[in-house]
Amino acid sequence: MSEIPQSVIVHPVEKFGGTIEVPGDKSISHRIAMLAGIASGESTVHNFLKSEDCINTLRAMEALGARSYVSEDGELTIHGTGGKILEPAGSLNCGNSGTTIRLLAGIIAGQSISVEMSGDESLQSRPMGRIRDPLEKMGAKLELTGEKGTAPIKIHGGSLKAIDYILPVASAQVKSCILLATLFAEGTTTITEPLPTRDHTERLMRELGINVITDGLQIKLTGFGQKGPKINGREFEVPGDFSSAAFLMMAVAARKKSKVTIKKVGLNPRRTAFLEVLKRAGADVTIKPRKTTEGGEPIGDITIVGGTLKAVEVGGAEIPNLIDELPLVAVLGALAEGTTVIRNAAELRVKEIDRITGMVNNLKSLGVDAEEQEDGMIIRGPAKIVPTTAVKSLGDHRTAMALAVLAMYGTAPVVVNNIACVETSYPGFWQHLRDLGGHVE
Ligand code: S3P
Repeated sequence: MSEIPQSVIVHPVEKFGGTIEVPGDKSISHRIAMLAGIASGESTVHNFLKSEDCINTLRAMEALGARSYVSEDGELTIHGTGGKILEPAGSLNCGNSGTTIRLLAGIIAGQSISVEMSGDESLQSRPMGRIRDPLEKMGAKLELTGEKGTAPIKIHGGSLKAIDYILPVASAQVKSCILLATLFAEGTTTITEPLPTRDHTERLMRELGINVITDGLQIKLTGFGQKGPKINGREFEVPGDFSSAAFLMMAVAARKKSKVTIKKVGLNPRRTAFLEVLKRAGADVTIKPRKTTEGGEPIGDITIVGGTLKAVEVGGAEIPNLIDELPLVAVLGALAEGTTVIRNAAELRVKEIDRITGMVNNLKSLGVDAEEQEDGMIIRGPAKIVPTTAVKSLGDHRTAMALAVLAMYGTAPVVVNNIACVETSYPGFWQHLRDLGGHVE
């Protein structure tokens, strides 16, 4: 049986901080598992994120013929399929992970196999028409057998042709799905993004010798035909996950006389808009770059010194680079002086849960003046955090962690319910809070 508790009590604390490293980046770990999984030979991956989501990707790659194991000291080794992707015996369980189902669908679409993919209740509620459209234009057939264009998905793959595709939503998952499918297609795909989104797939492909060309909002990739690319196994290193680090940054940013340093964090500029938001709010942010990892990702140390924050407005082109941190911008809004506005963020409604409704309802139950907008939220601060009831994660890891961070600024202990979901992205989160001075039981 799992020892993960169902709920925690988070107590207010005066001081919080220290020096810490967070687990590996989730987006990058998924992509390495997939590309090392189709490579020839052995890859070793340092700092792979061993969270439920990424383990689901590893398991799915195993069902397609890759092999992986973790050594006693935690290093992951992947033996790739070397181009021979098998038809799995049963349905691929992607758990809670949108990245697993959407990116892997791209690889599967280019194989002459039929595969069913599904996941938990949350994943079965998320839009999948956004990958069916481009993959069918390339020549695959996708049946969305869930209600309202959702999983379970049945993919009938085959020989694909490249496409010119304008992404209707700014989504790195959809972009990456098309890029992975293009690896197995004939011709040159051109993708046009409405706004720049995280480019981990492009960087990793380039590191592996695949010529992905980015020109402004356009990305071009020439396929290798149905046999796919020749990639050799190698070493990879995963930076610390900026999105995990962001919870610890927010736990300090509004707290006087507190300081946190998070080491070896990914600093990909398409992920770090939250640093700009913190700076706009008046936070004291220092970044010490280190190097670029094997995998083409910048990495460095981030230090935040806490103080008084002022409200921020976020929207437009920064939203895709801030998307997973928006629950924390809502927390910032609750603690800062003035009215915080989040707009152009309707994508939040189709994340693991509807994070607009989820955050606003929970904020209200903690005494915060918060209001839902169709595409965002308005939060008036600073609030006195007074819990009226337990807060509910609704099964969403980022909602659970954001609320725990806010609870540490409160006036009384807060019960955070349904916290097993935190394991999907940040195993060790509660222990890290304790290590930095949090009081969590
Ligand atoms: C991800 C992209 C984003 C992000 C998600 C991970 C990825 O989703 O919210 O947590 O790994 O590509 P969208 O691409 O759907 O915006």
